Amino acid sequence: MAELLRMATAGSVDDGKSTLIGRLLYDTKTILSDQLAAVELTSRERGEDQPNLALLTDGLRAEREQGITIDVAYRYFATPKRKFIIADTPGHVQYTRNMVTGASTADLALILIDARKGVLEQSRRHAFIASLLGVGHLVVCVNKMDLVDYSAERFEEIREEFAAFAMKLDVSDLTFVPVSALHGDNVVHRSAEMPWYEGTSLLHHLEEVYVASDRNLIDARFPVQYVIRDQGSDFRGYAGTVAGGIFKPGDEVVALPSGFTSTVRAIWGPGGEPITEAFPPQAVTVQLTDDLDVARGDLLCRPGNRPQASQSVDAMVCWLTERSRLTPGAKYAIRHTTRSAKASVVELDYRLDVNTLHRDEAAESLALNEIGRIRLHTQSPLQFDPYRRNRLTGSFVLVDEATNDTVAAGMLLGPHLATAKVVWQHGTLGREERATQGLTVWLTGLSASGKSSVAAELERLLVAEGRPAYLLDGDNLRHGLNGDLGFSAADRAENVRRVGEVARLFADAGMVAIASLISPYRADREQVRAAHQAAGLPFVEVYVDTPLEVCEARDPKGMYAKARSGEITGFTGVDDPYEPPVHAELVLRGDEGDPKALAARIRALLGPH
Ligand code: ADX
Repeated sequence: MAELLRMATAGSVDDGKSTLIGRLLYDTKTILSDQLAAVELTSRERGEDQPNLALLTDGLRAEREQGITIDVAYRYFATPKRKFIIADTPGHVQYTRNMVTGASTADLALILIDARKGVLEQSRRHAFIASLLGVGHLVVCVNKMDLVDYSAERFEEIREEFAAFAMKLDVSDLTFVPVSALHGDNVVHRSAEMPWYEGTSLLHHLEEVYVASDRNLIDARFPVQYVIRDQGSDFRGYAGTVAGGIFKPGDEVVALPSGFTSTVRAIWGPGGEPITEAFPPQAVTVQLTDDLDVARGDLLCRPGNRPQASQSVDAMVCWLTERSRLTPGAKYAIRHTTRSAKASVVELDYRLDVNTLHRDEAAESLALNEIGRIRLHTQSPLQFDPYRRNRLTGSFVLVDEATNDTVAAGMLLGPHLATAKVVWQHGTLGREERATQGLTVWLTGLSASGKSSVAAELERLLVAEGRPAYLLDGDNLRHGLNGDLGFSAADRAENVRRVGEVARLFADAGMVAIASLISPYRADREQVRAAHQAAGLPFVEVYVDTPLEVCEARDPKGMYAKARSGEITGFTGVDDPYEPPVHAELVLRGDEGDPKALAARIRALLGPH
């Protein structure tokens, strides 16, 4: 199957853009004979001696004049080698906004320069936006060469000036073609008028340019668009578009944000045919071997290759509306992959002048067509990749919920690290200089499994030995440090993160930090473990594996009874998941032995020091 090339072009009618596209359609014989006849007729009526190819693409102008906004027009054509889609955006009004829409999926951007006028502000702007949007290939058509006598010097001059500007951009492939769209020179066929030009025709270049390697086939990403259920057959499938990597039946996958793992049982294509490999941008239905609670907006990926997860992100945005401006403090809905969340603009770092690339850090807002770097806070964590790595999981739009207007298009740069601006202060005191060396004992298990009683006994045991130890009890911390958190997956993740950070500090200070939390998600606990490892501190995970029936029979706080009666929902073990550890250092049965004896077993594991 011929590989598809998505192109974006921008510019005004004066550049000869319509004529160039018309020429491509005409010379590749893509246009229908009745369309051609109509163009020939109109051209003759206007007294033009050859068919005016711009008429092929200017049909839209009439609609535009009637006030119908057409932001981007898509055109299709094909040669035996390849299929092409051109996203054609009017250059005169709302240029940036249209470019952003048109180029966000493009493999290649076509930039037109009038040979007489040379490199204009608009040419620079187009190149910048293309590079910002991650369009890796730029083709600069120096048009109207016939009007500069097919001058090699003029072409060279423009090439040098543009190349100097492009050096400042992130463009991996830059090609220049001298053309005359009007006469067809170097568009589809090589021109006899410019023997000095050693390159290929524009079409030949478009047919040959290699773009397949630009797609991300490494990071498997599948945002779930909707869940397909069939009551009769018990079938449950997840439909969506593959946003990255390759999915195959048999692959282990994790659903985010829940962190449940399962295996791909089967994949179906749009026609219901079984598929052995799904890759972007295929639309498929995925079936898993387990009945997980996966919903629209969740992301399937591989357990060893997860996206970033953050509620605080840095992004570049282009402001798309004239009805309002972007200002810090404003709240919007963020649409990211198949998910929507509330988001607020925390900070405008700078506004970028797209012509000079100057960063204005004093800017207080962004108006229509302006581009800037912002920090966003989202109500639930985004599962994303930086735009540079994945254009689908790395892009978003902001919607004004009052008007339902799409007000901004954005590219995610990464999680906002407050530390990026803060330099780490290295202490002069070495850990070994302290009287004691610390570590963290992390007890995880269901509510009423006995974690806290065991943890309290362990604390008592260590303190009696003269070891500094301190119990960080999940329930108690929820009265203070974590008083702002509930029991959603994201809140539990934050709960675990904070307690993990505190434990790490205690351990660093030379204490035995004993954390006792349900901490139901494996990934959250693994992050705490990783943070300890990175700091060179021991982390001991103890799984208090008490059967649910036992926990429920104990029910000291009456929570299970409330969960069963529906008085509270999302209760771990009842209608919320618990993911047991796979590599716990110790597994205890909370109902086998009293808390003292169980604590002694942990103590024994820690060794004499
Ligand atoms: S965790 O999941 O975020 O690790 P944590 O251990 O801090 O939970 O707090 C659990 C305690 O909160 C339980 O002992 C229980 O009394 C109470 N609780 C209230 N609602 C829930 C719920 N939906 N799921 C689990 N525990 C809950």
